[in-house]
Amino acid sequence: CGIIGYCGPKPAVDVILEGLKRLEYRGYDSAGLCVGHQGRLQLVKKTGKIADLRREVPEVLPGQWGIGHTRWATHGEVNDLNAHPHLDAASRIAVVHNGIIENHSALKEKLIGQGVSFRSETDSEVIVHLIASYYDGDLERAVKQALSLLRGTYGVLVMHTDQPDLIVGARNGSPLVLGIGEDEVFLASDVTAIMGHTKQVVYLEDGEVAVITPEGYRTTDLRDNVITKQIDVVSWELEEIEKGSFAHFMQKEIFEQPESILRAMQGRIEFENATAHLGGLNLDRQELLNIERVKIVASGTSYHAGMVGAYLLEQLARIPCTAELSSELRYRNPIVERNTLYFVVSQSGETADTLYAMRELQRKGAKVLGICNVVGATIPRESDGGVYTHSGPEIAVASTKAFTSQLTVLYLFSLFMARMRHMSFEEGLALVQAMDGVPALLQQVLSRADSIQELAEKYSYARSFLFLGRGINYPVALEGALKLKEVSYIHAEGYSAAEIKHGPIALVNEETPSLFLVPNDPLRDKVLSNMKEIKARKGPVIAIAVEGDREVAGIADDVFFVPNASPIVYPFLLMVPMQLLSYYMALILGHNVDQPRNLAKSVTVE
Ligand code: G6P
Repeated sequence: CGIIGYCGPKPAVDVILEGLKRLEYRGYDSAGLCVGHQGRLQLVKKTGKIADLRREVPEVLPGQWGIGHTRWATHGEVNDLNAHPHLDAASRIAVVHNGIIENHSALKEKLIGQGVSFRSETDSEVIVHLIASYYDGDLERAVKQALSLLRGTYGVLVMHTDQPDLIVGARNGSPLVLGIGEDEVFLASDVTAIMGHTKQVVYLEDGEVAVITPEGYRTTDLRDNVITKQIDVVSWELEEIEKGSFAHFMQKEIFEQPESILRAMQGRIEFENATAHLGGLNLDRQELLNIERVKIVASGTSYHAGMVGAYLLEQLARIPCTAELSSELRYRNPIVERNTLYFVVSQSGETADTLYAMRELQRKGAKVLGICNVVGATIPRESDGGVYTHSGPEIAVASTKAFTSQLTVLYLFSLFMARMRHMSFEEGLALVQAMDGVPALLQQVLSRADSIQELAEKYSYARSFLFLGRGINYPVALEGALKLKEVSYIHAEGYSAAEIKHGPIALVNEETPSLFLVPNDPLRDKVLSNMKEIKARKGPVIAIAVEGDREVAGIADDVFFVPNASPIVYPFLLMVPMQLLSYYMALILGHNVDQPRNLAKSVTVE
């Protein structure tokens, strides 16, 4: 979910609607806002997107302080009543909440016993009634008393008719950032919501409470101890969170990749020594040499990047490495071994599964580094060091440029570790040169996007797809399948091309296309055999192969050629055509590419 609060001279409704629009990628089942004016709370809530909410908002909605919310449903179905903000019985207090209140049933029962009636099925509504039950003229105190009873996670904003121009915000497990403007102060779940107004921000930590008014803010903990916070300056530019000349964010972000990969490499490649240089690892030379194992922990697309990373670390640096899903690791009571380095990979730096996995590892004594995109997010702040991917803001829900930037960082780290161990200068230089060449090669791939569009048209009839790759490109196939599922809602399975004979080949028929990744690497011939197995069963075959590979063209029904490159960098070149394929497929099928159904970009609940 996304939340925003505003106190200042501007019409609050405008600031909130604009902020919600920018936060929409965090959830878009329903939305709502509440603006205070002349001792009254004016509430508007609506199922659907921010555009639907905007239509419900009266032409004139005066008031200079208010809160808003865009929802990704957890408890309670998607309807107007379950949309936030929630009000107390007297309609004097309004609350927006991001997170999950685990003990809401017990609290609700108790409140019902006291005569409170609930309007929604959400866990969040207990918060507003609890605050009302404690309120005696001091909103901040009532909020703190109520919050101290909650178990679970929250990023919460509260306003009261009796306390005009004042909002209380608090966080525990769900992000909250405070923005300081001129005679105006903001609270939001992430900086994109407020970047159009200010770049001066304060990141709140778990257990902290902020009280904002147009004149300023105050931060304390739940026990009223004052906390002095550091002011940070956001480095992103406003244009970066706007579509510009592109039709969709996903399209913009796919086409930006030559540039975003370059940014991830900038200042980090050392040609003279044929290695990479990554600041922020917080490990001295001896610690780096002592590393015997690396484990990469992540969710979704970032997990696929982690799987590629594991392959790289083993192949290049000969360090045993595995990638694991955050959600699984956390509850597995992980064994933290000596001399093991952990990486958590997360675009947003806020994914709850990954954050909690990191905390569990740290609790058990692990050193955990982050590979994140969003500067100042919770994971980079709580990790023991790490590397930013500098992809710039990624707005489309389906991750594209963040993936290739994560790969870039993992390549550089593997190169760095390899060069400290057994990789020769020549091998290092070859890799550095191969990496350096990736942006230009991707530009060539992107310049032929039209032929991918044609492929999408040809295969848009399919209801099910297989994505097949091997070796380092096996996780790339998984990511290709994930992209297609996410935005086109076509069922897709990613598999190792070698594994299809052990099951998935049963799915193959004339209407189930298989997309093969065929780089020219040592496994190419094996992949060709797998392709023939599919053709023998009348399955349509699409191949993404290397320019000049005539044999592939002879087997596959359709081939998209990528430029010839060093085998190690094919994950970049093979991934981009699949991103484009998903993008065009979603368009052809008439889906909302940037906001696919049921998904959210940054999932801050478990
Ligand atoms: C969500 C997004 C995915 C993303 C995953 C992990 O499910 O929809 O696109 O890959 O979270 O996100 P992170 O921010 O941790 O990389």
